[in-house]
Amino acid sequence: MNEYDTEKMLLLLGKTHQRVSTPEEAEVVIVNTCSVREKGEQKLFSLLGRMRELKATRPELVIGVSGCVAQQEGQGIIQREKAVDFVVGTHNLSLVPSLVAQAKGGVREQVAIDYREEWEELPEEFDILPERSSEALPKGYLSQVRALVSIQRGCNKRCSYCVVPTTRGVEVSRSPEEILREIRLKVRMGAREVLLLGQTVNSYGKDLTPRLRFEELVRRIAEIPELRRIRFISPHPQDVRPEFVELYGSVPQLVPHIHLPLQSGSDPVLKAMNRNYRMSRFFDIVGELRARLPEIAISTDIIVGFPTESDADFDQTMNALESIRFDFAYYYKYSSRPNTTALVDYPNLLPDEIVSERFQRLDRLQGIITAEKNQARVGTVTQVLFEGRGSVPGMLRGRIPENTSIDVTAPPEYYGQELPVRITQASRHGLRGEPA
Ligand code: 5AD
Ligand code: SF4
Repeated sequence: MNEYDTEKMLLLLGKTHQRVSTPEEAEVVIVNTCSVREKGEQKLFSLLGRMRELKATRPELVIGVSGCVAQQEGQGIIQREKAVDFVVGTHNLSLVPSLVAQAKGGVREQVAIDYREEWEELPEEFDILPERSSEALPKGYLSQVRALVSIQRGCNKRCSYCVVPTTRGVEVSRSPEEILREIRLKVRMGAREVLLLGQTVNSYGKDLTPRLRFEELVRRIAEIPELRRIRFISPHPQDVRPEFVELYGSVPQLVPHIHLPLQSGSDPVLKAMNRNYRMSRFFDIVGELRARLPEIAISTDIIVGFPTESDADFDQTMNALESIRFDFAYYYKYSSRPNTTALVDYPNLLPDEIVSERFQRLDRLQGIITAEKNQARVGTVTQVLFEGRGSVPGMLRGRIPENTSIDVTAPPEYYGQELPVRITQASRHGLRGEPA
């Protein structure tokens, strides 16, 4: 979601500015932030400290802060870091050019985080689209081959640990016409994969009249010629319906991969997290998906050290990882966040030694599983969509349909194409291959 917002800001500023690669060369620096965990906020202020030093040598440098921390803290950011010229929230992206222009004119301490009538005429963030392909982003930065397209904003779930409903607001579905228009536009500019974005994509459409379900949206997107791959993040287990499972194996462009956040393998912890499914349901969903598409790759998110998590609860999470064998998992130490019910209901955090020890156990187990899953692909030939530069010169980076990234010795012409590759090496971090 942040990458998508960054893309919108680059497009808006691209009319009057050029992109540079380091803050040292820049006239304007905007730090786009995430507030899902506290670490992001800490990083923001250490980065702003460095920007303050730059500004001391070049007072004309404009410094802005955008994203969820901006939305959440507003004026507080400027109070804490005086070098900041403006703060712009998640609903006011289209104000960025005027905030920058004002700041360059010497206006300081601008805060644009709420809704104001005089801003009503401005395009919504959804309407900020490239007009010409020359405005599309430079190769190797945000991939043009994989187009990010937001289908909904906000979230109506109330997971007890999560700050998103307060920073991004209630769930709003974007109109299917607009979504299709943006995807067609990006395909004309070279996109071959679309990554549909939303906090709970499979609840899409509940607020639309006439109602259009997520499954129907995916089927309409699949009618766009030249679009090779359809991906989305993230579905929510609670909104998995039979029609959703039936997408797999019936929409050829839908990739054989699903990211389905579990968060914990223990029913009491899921309850305390206000995740409205239990383990038996999650196991059923995994079974249904694998019955439709045996080769489907499944990845997940896990939170380690939720305040009520006992040793026995954590063992349940380990058991779930062992029995499901996710292809990949992201895991995070619990971080208590402002405006969440967990902050009030479970104020006593677990000691960090316990959380760290659990985190390392989880990392060891999942590292082995991911490495084994990747290793099992060595020697096979698979389609790779080439998206950008590889880790070493002469290589391109791409993805297999299951989403694992792969570095391939390949000429630059492969960029943007989907071609067969023989997988030659694997580790838990990714794959290597040769054109087949
Ligand atoms: N602490 C730790 N991890 C969190 N996530 C969301 N909120 C928190 C939090 N307060 C994780 C969840 C979610 C992912 C995007 O971030 O696992 O799925
Ligand atoms: Fe946060 Fe839960 Fe909504 Fe995901 S589903 S954004 S974790 S509240």
